Amino acid sequence: MDALSLRKRFLEFFEQRGHTIVPSSSLVPDDPSVLLTTAGMQQFKPYYAELDPEKTIHPSIGKPVGLNVASCQKSFRTSDIDEVGDESHLTFFEMLGNFSFGGYFKKEAIAYAHEFLTKELGLTIAFVTVFEGKDSIGVPKDEESIALWKSLDPKLRVEEQGMEDVFWGPTGSSGPCGPTTEIYCKNAAGQDIEVWNIVFNQYFYPGSREELDAGVAGKKLELLKKPGVDTGMGLERLAMVAQKTDSVFETDLFPPGIVLIPQDIEDRIKRIIADHARATVFLLADGVRPSNKEAGYVLRRVVRRMLVYQFLYPSLRVESFLKEVQELFGKFYPEVKNTEIIFEFKKEEEKFQGTLERGLKELQRQDVIDAAAAFRLYESFGLPYEIIKEFGKERARELMREDFEKEFEKHQEISRAGKEGKFGGHGLILDTGELKAANEEELQVVTRLHTATHLLQAALRKVLGEGVHQAGSDITPERTRFDFTFDRKLTDEEVRQVELSVNEAIKQNLDMGYKEIPFHKAVALGALYSPREKYPDVVKVYSAQNPETGEAFSRELCGGPHVEHTLSIGKFHILKQESVGAGVRRIRARVEEAPAT
Ligand code: ALA
Repeated sequence: MDALSLRKRFLEFFEQRGHTIVPSSSLVPDDPSVLLTTAGMQQFKPYYAELDPEKTIHPSIGKPVGLNVASCQKSFRTSDIDEVGDESHLTFFEMLGNFSFGGYFKKEAIAYAHEFLTKELGLTIAFVTVFEGKDSIGVPKDEESIALWKSLDPKLRVEEQGMEDVFWGPTGSSGPCGPTTEIYCKNAAGQDIEVWNIVFNQYFYPGSREELDAGVAGKKLELLKKPGVDTGMGLERLAMVAQKTDSVFETDLFPPGIVLIPQDIEDRIKRIIADHARATVFLLADGVRPSNKEAGYVLRRVVRRMLVYQFLYPSLRVESFLKEVQELFGKFYPEVKNTEIIFEFKKEEEKFQGTLERGLKELQRQDVIDAAAAFRLYESFGLPYEIIKEFGKERARELMREDFEKEFEKHQEISRAGKEGKFGGHGLILDTGELKAANEEELQVVTRLHTATHLLQAALRKVLGEGVHQAGSDITPERTRFDFTFDRKLTDEEVRQVELSVNEAIKQNLDMGYKEIPFHKAVALGALYSPREKYPDVVKVYSAQNPETGEAFSRELCGGPHVEHTLSIGKFHILKQESVGAGVRRIRARVEEAPAT
């Protein structure tokens, strides 16, 4: 049975049994205590305690949800990111769930699950687990669930387990929680797969799960007035069992092109790409953009990890996997069809391209990679932790995620407290030699200034003649500093004309794009380059071009990054001109806020 039918059958099954079907909420939750949506119950959390599900209007359906609901929820677990690559761990996944806020409890919940799996889908349950009880928190063994399972199937194996496996929640800083019963089925390889987790929310805990486990003084489980049900069945795992595959990656929930990846690339990498491609598409679809904070940082890490593999194995085309994911999920989640997804991915790809290769080289040069060294690699070259750990191999053996995160936080505190002595070699997310930026905001400004600098060189040559050549350039968020060959002071009129010419080009909203072509062809096309620099055989040529006529205002060999369209540069101002030695002049210029587009 294909995934589309599995979703449909699940939702219809529960609709026929008095449940309101609620669409998936965004991966970016309203609840500020969690970064991303990790489970189906998240959007319903308040109904277990403070909100009345029969009176409160639910924003996505425009009416109260009632006591019983079911959904298929987009979910994301960053906690599993290090495990991705094995047979079953994922970051993004879909969770099928039925929920009750005082409508029904253990008897119905267990009976529904049993009926859906064995009758509706015709699957065999291998065994189930129930809570063994824990005195210190005052929760007894779940005898009721044992009896219920036995009444449905006397031969069924029922295992007892503890807190770690079968006590769920709370999520975030407080919330509902309780004992669970889990259902296992076998996959085609004969492995036991946990497919469905049925949580009995009997309690409310006024603290986090860590506090509950530690037994923090003063915080106790409180009985909920109306006990609730919260269930979660991973769609990928269900598909693996229903479609009789050995792993989730062979189900129809993963980009099919993954099987075309050449044999010599290990399965682990294929799986990481398959997982991260889905993660990327769904995060971008819900409005997350790569950055150095929170959800944006999660996205940046998964994108960059794929880009490193693509760099090492050029036959892996990440973009094509993203498109496959869009195609695969567009029928059920219209938001993944958004064309901005590929556009945003390419933007991040371009940003990372400048530092990726140098970053990997630098990584290979390090003798011992501790947290501080790893953080420097992240800071200067944008290499994510996962990459440093993997490619650092033995040298990064002692490197722990926790310590890396600590360095990260330390750094964020420092940059919050005010950036001392602007840069001084520290705190950069981009440093191409020519361009420097310490954070996302600065990156955007230096990118605009960088494109403006190309336009400036072209304008100088138009006004002062083709004897003008770049002699140096340095760009910080405050200004661009451009040195060029010219043997006298510019008149005020010349300065005005240059400034005007740049602003005219900006206003025409030229396309700023690049082509990779052989060096000799680039030179033949008249692309500007620096004769002192050594270039590879194939180079990137950036052109600022009129989209209709194709006429280029500027053409230069360059590694980027650049804006896509010149209008986003904003207004260009020359601040001053200076002399820097015989025959070389210097211009400092800045850009004003780009107009809102
Ligand atoms: N909320 C429960 C889980 O995520 C069902 O496993």
